[in-house]
Amino acid sequence: MSIVVLISGRGSNMQALLRGFPSREAFDAALAHAIEGFAPRLVALAGFMRVFTPGFVARYAGRLLNIHPSLLPAFPGLDTHARALAAGVKTHGCTVHFVTEELDHGPIVIQAEVPVRKDDSPETLAARVLRQEHIIYPRAARWFLDDKLVIRDGKVRVKGNDAQLLVSPD
Ligand code: GRF
Repeated sequence: MSIVVLISGRGSNMQALLRGFPSREAFDAALAHAIEGFAPRLVALAGFMRVFTPGFVARYAGRLLNIHPSLLPAFPGLDTHARALAAGVKTHGCTVHFVTEELDHGPIVIQAEVPVRKDDSPETLAARVLRQEHIIYPRAARWFLDDKLVIRDGKVRVKGNDAQLLVSPD
């Protein structure tokens, strides 16, 4: 590995650095190689704005988590907060899910729901959702590392029946 990229942000500069890869497959192979160096049990995506190849997804099946800023299956993809406001939904939120080939799908581990307020902008709504993201993602990771997550028929159950939906009043 000749480059390690540490990012916190939108990732646009990381994308610029990655243009050297001839294909998606080549990028994913290099990424998998780098990940394997750490031999992790869990790979957790946090704002990693890139669709993986089927090979990468298969390699990490059952141990690749993502957090998405909507109550999936509503609003997969980008601009979730503006789209939620445009749709007039009364609740919004975030979802931690296992990653499958289909973008922003995959077995749901935990969701947090927040109210949508009349005077919300995408920014105020995003901030309310983000506070919940910071609660549910560590919780999901803990469950995973404690071997408490069981995936069956595309659904996730938590051993011990811990709540998989948080409803935040604010
Ligand atoms: C979060 O809203 C996450 O749900 C989405 O990208 C954003 C990343 O935020 N996938 P941060 O950079 O982790 O604060």
